[in-house]
Amino acid sequence: MPLHTIRVGGPGTVSTFLGRSGGATYRMVAMPSVSSSAANCSQDVALSVRDLVKTFLVGGGVFGGEKGEVSAVAGVSFEIGAGRTLGLVGESGCGKSTTARSILRLIEPTSGEVVLTRPLDGGGSERIDVIAADRRQLRELRRHMQIVFQDPFASLNPRMSVGTAIGELLHVHTNLTRKERSDRVGELLSLVGMNPNVADRYPHEFSGGQRQRIGVARALALNPGFLILDEPVSALDVSIQAQVLNLLEELQDRLGLTYLFIAHDLAVVRHICDDTAVMYLGKIVEQASTDRLFTAPMHPYTQALLSAVPTPNPKIQRERSRILLEGDVPSPLNPPSGCRFHTRCPIGRDKEICRAEEPLLKEEAPGHQVACHFAEAKAII
Ligand SMILES: Nc1ncnc2c1ncn2[C@@H]1O[C@H](COP(=O)(O)OP(=O)(O)OP(=O)(O)O)[C@@H](O)[C@H]1O
Ligand code: SF4
Ligand SMILES: [Mg+2]
Repeated sequence: MPLHTIRVGGPGTVSTFLGRSGGATYRMVAMPSVSSSAANCSQDVALSVRDLVKTFLVGGGVFGGEKGEVSAVAGVSFEIGAGRTLGLVGESGCGKSTTARSILRLIEPTSGEVVLTRPLDGGGSERIDVIAADRRQLRELRRHMQIVFQDPFASLNPRMSVGTAIGELLHVHTNLTRKERSDRVGELLSLVGMNPNVADRYPHEFSGGQRQRIGVARALALNPGFLILDEPVSALDVSIQAQVLNLLEELQDRLGLTYLFIAHDLAVVRHICDDTAVMYLGKIVEQASTDRLFTAPMHPYTQALLSAVPTPNPKIQRERSRILLEGDVPSPLNPPSGCRFHTRCPIGRDKEICRAEEPLLKEEAPGHQVACHFAEAKAII
């Protein structure tokens, strides 16, 4: 496949050029395009993921163990509109981080399609086939897609001052001089609400919230348009969580960022996400606007998750009937047949069709997709 980029609605095809963004000069390499027919799709979609699969082969090595395949991500599809936030929720081990890491190709997905659309400085947009990118192109892609991890301490090198940690990215990816890099580090620290003078200090000298701000500054160093936030506030105290969430919202408005926001905490997702996707054992089982999903959930799993969210109103809390799920999440090493949720589902546990036939994700109401043979809206008060 020839390597070139496509300007959608722009003045023509670009192969290699020098771009300037946020005062920094970057050398850009040619990117693998998607087909020109696909380039006619909506320009408002910033990220499109189709049938993403990641299977880990386990066991049988030096330490033995049963050989098998862990079906961590089993055909995930979604789109995120430009400037919007999609929340990805689900119990521990359901495949949220594996989805994130596969999208960024921090791990190699087994199969699937990931297309990033980004606006070009001169107008129009470029659609990049992330899966087709080679090593050099992947390095270039890092400028457009970045990730913020849950543990801000683990993601910062303890032996590097924060200025060096942020400046390192600029050094690798840009032609900025030392002075320009140092100015940019100061600019980024200010952007996340920190004093630029702290650039010489080390990660252990900061609180958890400050470290997460530094993590965000680092992720923003190269002006990416798309950020994956993998549990960015889960490790923080509640009061600090609110500050970091506010910062993320402010930055999104200011810089027009698109987010994939991964979280356990449904209250946080409701607060920050425009749309929400619910994952269970490697699959998306329900997806809708956040308002719709929280007020009229249609999948029994989503209904159970929502029924467990505490409400501040004691009267409602007393009246609320909690849907209890029996048993643990099955192992993705040997997922259940048919609907993966059938072993725990209060509705489908004893139904033949649920055991035998996998329900496909389909639109049950405008903009509301559900994978369930018996999908039915149920308000969780
Ligand atoms: N390198 C690996 N080798 C084998 N299995 C893996 C590997 N990485 C992840 N898994 C398995 O894939 C599944 C999904 O893991 P993942 O980390 O994506 O879940 P998660 O939804 O992010 O969970 P959490 O909420 O705890 O972060 C889990 O069963 C996990 O054990
Ligand atoms: S398909 Fe059946 S088992 Fe699966 S969620 Fe729906 S009712 Fe439950
Ligand atoms: Mg995770």
